[in-house]
Amino acid sequence: MPRLTISVLLLGALAYACQRDWDALHRRPHQHRARNTHAKRAEVEYPPSLSETESILVNSFDNKSISDWSYYYTHGDHLGSHNKTMAEWTADKWRDAGFDAHLAEYPIWVTYPEHSSLTLIRPDGSTHEANLVEDVLEEDDTSSYPNVIPAFHAMSGSGNVTAEYVYVGRGTQADFQVLKDAGIELEGKIAMANYGAIYRGTKVKNAQDNGMAGCIIFTDPLDDGEVTVENGYAAYPDGPARNPSSIQRGSVRFSSLYSGDPTTVGWASAPDSARGDVAPYNPSIPSIPLSMKDALPLLAALQGHGVTAKEANRSGWEGAFANITYDSGPAPGAVVNMNHIMNGWVAPVWDVIGVINGTSPDEVVVVGNHRDAWVIGGAADPNSGSAIMIELAYAFGKLLDNGWKPRRTIVLGSWDAEEFGLQGSTEWVESHLPWLTSVTVAYVNIDVGTSGPRPDFSGSGEIQAFVIEQMKKVLFPEAWGDFPTLYDMWYNTTEGEVAPLGSGSDYASFYQNGIGCIDIGASNGPTDPVYHYHSNYDSYHWMSTFGDPGFKVHAAMGQWLSLIVYHMADDVLIPWDLPNAATVLQAYVAELNDTVVESDFPDLDISPIVDAIDEFTKQAENIAKVAEQAHAFGDQILLAVVNAKYRDFPRGYASVGGMPGRETFRNVISAPGIDNGYGADVFPAVTDSINKGDQEAAEEWVGKSSKAILRAAEVLEVGA
Ligand SMILES: *[C@@H]1O[C@H](CO)[C@@H](O)[C@H](O)[C@H]1NC(C)=O
Ligand SMILES: *[C@@H]1O[C@H](CO)[C@@H](O)[C@H](O)[C@H]1NC(C)=O
Ligand SMILES: *[C@@H]1O[C@H](CO)[C@@H](O)[C@H](O)[C@H]1NC(C)=O
Ligand SMILES: *[C@@H]1O[C@H](CO)[C@@H](O)[C@H](O)[C@H]1NC(C)=O
Ligand SMILES: *[C@@H]1O[C@H](CO)[C@@H](O)[C@H](O)[C@H]1NC(C)=O
Ligand SMILES: *[C@@H]1O[C@H](CO)[C@@H](O)[C@H](O)[C@H]1NC(C)=O
Ligand SMILES: *[C@@H]1O[C@H](CO)[C@@H](O)[C@H](O)[C@H]1NC(C)=O
Ligand SMILES: *[C@@H]1O[C@H](CO)[C@@H](O)[C@H](O)[C@H]1NC(C)=O
Ligand SMILES: [Zn+2]
Repeated sequence: MPRLTISVLLLGALAYACQRDWDALHRRPHQHRARNTHAKRAEVEYPPSLSETESILVNSFDNKSISDWSYYYTHGDHLGSHNKTMAEWTADKWRDAGFDAHLAEYPIWVTYPEHSSLTLIRPDGSTHEANLVEDVLEEDDTSSYPNVIPAFHAMSGSGNVTAEYVYVGRGTQADFQVLKDAGIELEGKIAMANYGAIYRGTKVKNAQDNGMAGCIIFTDPLDDGEVTVENGYAAYPDGPARNPSSIQRGSVRFSSLYSGDPTTVGWASAPDSARGDVAPYNPSIPSIPLSMKDALPLLAALQGHGVTAKEANRSGWEGAFANITYDSGPAPGAVVNMNHIMNGWVAPVWDVIGVINGTSPDEVVVVGNHRDAWVIGGAADPNSGSAIMIELAYAFGKLLDNGWKPRRTIVLGSWDAEEFGLQGSTEWVESHLPWLTSVTVAYVNIDVGTSGPRPDFSGSGEIQAFVIEQMKKVLFPEAWGDFPTLYDMWYNTTEGEVAPLGSGSDYASFYQNGIGCIDIGASNGPTDPVYHYHSNYDSYHWMSTFGDPGFKVHAAMGQWLSLIVYHMADDVLIPWDLPNAATVLQAYVAELNDTVVESDFPDLDISPIVDAIDEFTKQAENIAKVAEQAHAFGDQILLAVVNAKYRDFPRGYASVGGMPGRETFRNVISAPGIDNGYGADVFPAVTDSINKGDQEAAEEWVGKSSKAILRAAEVLEVGA
């Protein structure tokens, strides 16, 4: 088997060149980049040579059909729980392609604003009322659709608060510390934070923990790279810069503590389910998102008061608005009234499940994408992925028409209510857990399939090499002549680095139950048209004029996904690279070591984890040799043994119970960072304990984490 040395992305410095404004649901631009060996750029055969079956799949992707599916998904309200028809339509398409398809309904906790308004009252009595919906644009048909809900933060608290407000930079714990050190009174005031760097819900939590009465989170041009009005680019719809009225919606649940329905954390939501209190999982203070346009007068009113940007000396504090100094305030007499009343109730949501039975029913590959969007459009998030999934179903349909049957069962999932907090996928996983953990070979996620031309993926060590190989078989759109294949563009984007998994999308519940996962997508870089993330302008019009004119990147991403799924589901030997899984663990423990060395417990002994990884490495190298021989000799019995071990070994990572304070997170290898909420912490339970200053717990979790790795190694063991 060809072996690549693949570098990994780890927790390290928060410095990362790309500062665009994504959230915990979209890990890419906020992953921590660390030191680490970079994979060498491989020579790629050009044009790629494909097998007959691969050619059928790849040639089946048609930009016109993808555009049609995209158009459908982006022209109707499909916020979580709002659109059963769209679920049925998806099931119909998959059936038409040849899959069995059904809807799975779950009653979940949803929240919507009953009332939302925000007014600035200046010391001279003049006022500015914020607009909580985007401007209607003649060019963009869905910007004027009826029944638009004001932009809101799902799971936010309620309140009618009138108070002075303080600019808190990115709203990290360190940002708040700067203000406290300067003697700025925070208690009872409203926090005003800039989007970016950490997950939005963590900003709200930090404000709440500092006794603040409300939180505003606004979009700043700082996160738009080169492409800003300040730099001379026209704003959407006339050009690629951000429309100043664009608002980033999003959930503010405490995403590093749980996934799914906050009333049924740890069990499936059903009509007769017991339901718990949401209070530990969601903020109690109100929070509201603001556009650039409406943030400006608030920032201007603080000028000359409080801590200056220079004094704060914090990364991301000083934004990119011309003529704004980013002083903290408060400004005496400048107050905000935020009146935000949220309602919550239990409502049904609908997952769509599509199945092609394989000839080995105890081996299953699950491929999923969410369907719900914050806005009428959702052209990138998530329906670029949804359009690709329909085209993928038809591609496999062509193979079925030729009499093909996969070796392993393929399950497609179209998840509802991801945006509120991964509800649809989590409840489905929780209601099928024993089956899923006994049969699932891998879960493959695609969320934002295309918001720009730059492909990326994150995921489990054993899967990485094979996923990279598939990229070399996909031609990249001609418009990017320097990058003939998807691999070339990926390498240019990532320099060969692959990130660990946090909780950014629907893979979280699979991964936290010990199922190997990857998550793929393509996004925009700092010189590409600005993606109007979670805004009304994430629309078909934006996609077809700026994001992916001609739907060519969609097609390439779909071709890649279809090759991944085809090989996972049909290769005689599951195409994993176990020695690379060991390499990744070694890199993660080196990262943990850095955390320990810099912590209050520099003498914490992590050698049990190092020893466990040594044992894992030994078993990984051994089984790779056995697998190669079994494959070479076509030894069916041995192949079945190896495949079962490849399927099962990551369950070991989740075999030692839930992490303290977040019991549904069980994968000792990675989980979302508690105080970051975005990217992943490696060896999270050890890291959490160190951060809490609890040496005893840290020691306990060194032991448990090593046990979990030894369990994975034990599953891999093949007798001589
Ligand atoms: C559901 O979505 C479809 C397609 O976008 C749309 O035509 C329909 O009006 C939506 N239904 C509702 C209830 O909004
Ligand atoms: C909200 O608070 C403001 C200021 O205290 C008050 O004037 C207004 O009546 C309140 N609104 C509601 C709906 O209670
Ligand atoms: C700003 O912070 C950096 C480290 O974050 C430090 O090196 C530098 O000296 C600080 N500058 C001032 C003026 O305090
Ligand atoms: C910033 O201030 C300058 C000088 O007063 C002015 O010419 C310019 O228009 C202002 N820019 C913006 C974006 O307000
Ligand atoms: C697929 O397999 C399942 C479980 O064995 C079975 O219930 C179902 O009927 C099968 N579907 C088809 C279309 O054969
Ligand atoms: C990516 O492409 C740009 C433009 O062709 C080039 O300047 C840069 O060096 C490339 N980076 C990598 C890592 O390949
Ligand atoms: C599909 O690609 C063709 C060839 O590049 C192009 O002419 C056409 O406009 C594209 N279709 C759509 C719907 O974008
Ligand atoms: C941890 O880091 C220290 C200091 O750099 C180094 O001496 C030690 O070998 C490292 N241990 C492991 C297990 O990587
Ligand atoms: Zn999404």
